[in-house]
Order: sequence, then structure tokens, then C-alpha cells
Amino acid sequence: MKYIIEHLEDEVWEWCILEYKHMSEVVGKENLIFTNVSKAEHHKISKYGEVHEESVRSMNLKNACLMEMVADKILEPSDAKKFDCFVFGGILGDNPPQGRTKVLHNLFDMRNLGQEQMSTDTAVLVTHMILNGKKLNEIKFQDTISLETNDGEEIILPYRYVVENGKPVLPEGLFEMLKNQEGL
Ligand SMILES: C[S@@+](CC[C@H](N)C(=O)[O-])C[C@H]1O[C@@H](n2cnc3c(N)ncnc32)[C@H](O)[C@@H]1O
Repeated sequence: MKYIIEHLEDEVWEWCILEYKHMSEVVGKENLIFTNVSKAEHHKISKYGEVHEESVRSMNLKNACLMEMVADKILEPSDAKKFDCFVFGGILGDNPPQGRTKVLHNLFDMRNLGQEQMSTDTAVLVTHMILNGKKLNEIKFQDTISLETNDGEEIILPYRYVVENGKPVLPEGLFEMLKNQEGL
């Protein structure tokens, strides 16, 4: 199964890199494709998957499914037989969501993972779990996590994360990156 991330941020930010690395660990570098990435930025993520400047919009993909919160149907394990690839918005969340993948709606079938906004790496992880046989309602989640920075400020991440061994599953290094960022 191929997982395609249509990068929709202005740049490949450090936060994106940590999420893209995490996805690559989950689905395997050979199954991960980043699209819509300017040539000058390919080097930042090429060790985590195949990188293309082209957008999925012009790739004429067959049997592709767009993962989209507002889709009518929930992703089911049986969808692994229907589709060859899954497309995600490479977007750092915004609250409320802006719906930046609307431009892709008429190109693909769509499935949701519930109505809560997940980080992109979480959406890839959950899709991978479901395609490997889990049902959405068998997965444990935490909505919103908070983190205290070095100067005592609280950072809230208002997204849905998978919980494993009692802890939210996050990209390695994300907490450290956010803790050390000034002005958050
Ligand atoms: C952080 S979300 C972005 C949502 C965003 N704020 C927007 O403008 O659309 C990044 C991507 O993860 C996937 N995703 C996140 N939550 C999802 C859900 N509940 N169901 C399906 N896909 C989801 C979608 O592919 C989405 O484009």
C-alpha cells in the first residue's frame, strides 16, 4: 500500500520533517511518497520517502482514496482491497480546520477517521492500523495534549492522538522542539 502526502505548507518546516520521519517509520520509506514539494526542499525529506515536485492533482492516480475528516464514510479494514493508495494533506493542523484539501475532493473517493482533527502522522498511523485489520472504535485516542515549555508556558495541541502504553504517540523530538521554541 502506498501513502501519499500532498505537502500543502509554504515550506517543509522542522515540525513537518518530524511528522514525515514518524510516518516513514510507521509505513516504511518504500511506501511513502511526498508530492507538491518544491525542488529546493527535497533534500530535507528524501531519506523518508520518494519526493515529487508534482502535485497529486496532475498525477492521474487510479484507485486512490483521500483521507478527509468531512468524508461521509469511515475507513474500514476492507478498504485495503478497494484502494492502492491513500492521500493525506501534508498540513500542520489549524483549529478550526481550514479544509485545505477541498481542492482534491472531486478527484478521489474519500474516507474519514472520525470527525476529530488528527495530526497528519497520526492520520497515517491510524490508516495503517485500520488497513491492517483494526477498527477505528478499537483504537484508543487522546484529544488535545498539553506541554509545559522551559519558561513555564503551556502549549496546547488541540488534535487527536493515538494512545499506546498510556501515552500519546508523537513524533520523536516534537516535545523537545516545541519546548525549546521561544515565543510560543
Ligand atoms: C492536520 S490535518 C489537516 C486538516 C486541516 N486543518 C485542513 O486544513 O484541512 C492533516 C491531514 O490529516 C488527515 N486527517 C486528519 N484528521 C483526519 C480525520 N479525522 N479523518 C480523515 N483524515 C484526517 C487528512 O488527510 C488531513 O488533510
